[in-house]
Amino acid sequence: MRKILVTSALPYANGSIHLGHLVEYLQTDIWVRHQKMSNNHCTYICADDAHGTPIMLKARELNITPEKLIEKSKKEHVEDFTDFHIEFDNYHTTHSEENKMLSELIYNNLKDKGVIERREIEQYYDENEEMFLPDRYIKGTCPKCGENDQYGDSCEKCGATYSSTEVINPISVISNSKPIKKKTEHLFFKLSDYEKFLSEWLTDSRVQKEIHNKMKEWLSDGLSSWDITRDKPYFGFSIPGEKEKFFYVWLDAPVGYIASFKNLCDKNSIDYLSSWKKDSEVELYHFIGKDIAYFHVLFWPSMLEGAGFRTPTSVFCHGFLTIDGEKMSKSRGTFIKARTYLNHLNPEYLRYYFASRLTSKIEDIDLNFNDFIARVNSDLIGKVINIGSRCARFINKDFDNKLASKSNNQSLIAKILEKKSAIQTNYENRDFSKNIRIISSLADDVNKYIDDEKPWIKIKNKENSEIVHEVCSDGINMFRVLVGYLKPVLPNITENVEKLLRCTPIDWYNIDQLIFEEKIETFKPIITRIDEKSIEIIKSEARED
Ligand code: MSP
Ligand code: ZN
Repeated sequence: MRKILVTSALPYANGSIHLGHLVEYLQTDIWVRHQKMSNNHCTYICADDAHGTPIMLKARELNITPEKLIEKSKKEHVEDFTDFHIEFDNYHTTHSEENKMLSELIYNNLKDKGVIERREIEQYYDENEEMFLPDRYIKGTCPKCGENDQYGDSCEKCGATYSSTEVINPISVISNSKPIKKKTEHLFFKLSDYEKFLSEWLTDSRVQKEIHNKMKEWLSDGLSSWDITRDKPYFGFSIPGEKEKFFYVWLDAPVGYIASFKNLCDKNSIDYLSSWKKDSEVELYHFIGKDIAYFHVLFWPSMLEGAGFRTPTSVFCHGFLTIDGEKMSKSRGTFIKARTYLNHLNPEYLRYYFASRLTSKIEDIDLNFNDFIARVNSDLIGKVINIGSRCARFINKDFDNKLASKSNNQSLIAKILEKKSAIQTNYENRDFSKNIRIISSLADDVNKYIDDEKPWIKIKNKENSEIVHEVCSDGINMFRVLVGYLKPVLPNITENVEKLLRCTPIDWYNIDQLIFEEKIETFKPIITRIDEKSIEIIKSEARED
């Protein structure tokens, strides 16, 4: 039995969960459910990322305290995740006692190591708001191409990145006033001290190929020190021993992984620290989006190493969601919140669709609504679920709910069971789309078998009763295996099928145990087809959100 600790990135507490986020949480949840079906001891940890300037400003805008805002967000996030059947073992917040203690501990360890340096820097300062301005809160003319109204860190027109002090005619986004340059003393983490460590940490299994290459590039360019300080006003943890200085949100955010795990362990009187010690036998995996790779493959392993903690086993990075081929956009009605989707569609449609698109690569994945409808209605419902409904009806009506005592097609059953190890490997490697293809093709084989045997005709002649019984029982057995193969993707449907068949919960060890001579329940519809109209409704609501 493997011991595995898994995380998804911690969503910011200033916004709702949307379909883009769900790529990540569903990918992770499917992977974790696969581990649990293998009887591995797998713990799935997450939390809200509650600190930073955007959260502070959003709370001001709503005229509530940041504490109130993050409490509301957390509740809403947990409801969204739960309704998508995303099952965390613990969901915490970075604004917690555990996280404060651990962030301070890690910082103090780094300080003792001599890898925290102090330097005076010059930053834009908004005199009206009495605050230093993060790059995103500066707008002005791009110093490279002259385009107006660009953010303080990069230009959307020419793609250049630069420092906010280079921007021409800078304006504070918060007060619309002209900011001044002001000196301030900041603490930095000396990342260059970890270049050797990082190049050794970077083995083939650690990150995907694309990230591997990127890291080599970053390392050969040399790493600059990382500014871990923010001045007041800031919603975050104060830096111990400093006056009116706070940890930058990205320092305490990943520490939130450990903090959420500690919070879980404390509830169960388990020692959390042994999983984070250098010699821990626990495997640690972080699922993240490509936009935050830098933080997870450079800063985070270095912080952990420096502070004397274990480092991640692997970091799994995914691409971004596009909808109908384009970036999610409010005006096109494709910036769809989890809740807007849930108000109109079954979460398992999206779980199935994302699974059909997800691979181990970092490529962006597209939600094409026509393809979405086709895959769910034709493949999932028309092929897989159809096997159950067409066979169960005969068992219910003609055989007093009882399955036959033997099979009529052992070779097809063997062909289906043979795929088990490939299916497991594909889940393990995050190649979910391969599994959906295999399962759909096996469902074609089963449907063809039933079509060829024509039980609806044969049943008319009493002499055929035994063969019809066997064919339909085969159908039910094959249906059970195929649904079992989909269990990590479709937990709710699987549970309903387990109830229908009165079988023990399916896992990778019992999936090949066929059922004969057992009674099943009366068939009830398991899932209905997608109604195309729902998609238009969702899009129009997303435009108004
Ligand atoms: N708070 C940080 C993560 C801190 S982890 C210590 C953050 N939050 S986020 O809410 O912006 O994003 C959470 C996760 O969702 C990230 O991994 C991000 O890449 C992912 N996604 C956000 N939008 C996405 C898409 N449109 N498509 C796919 N994933 C996306 O980053
Ligand atoms: Zn430009």
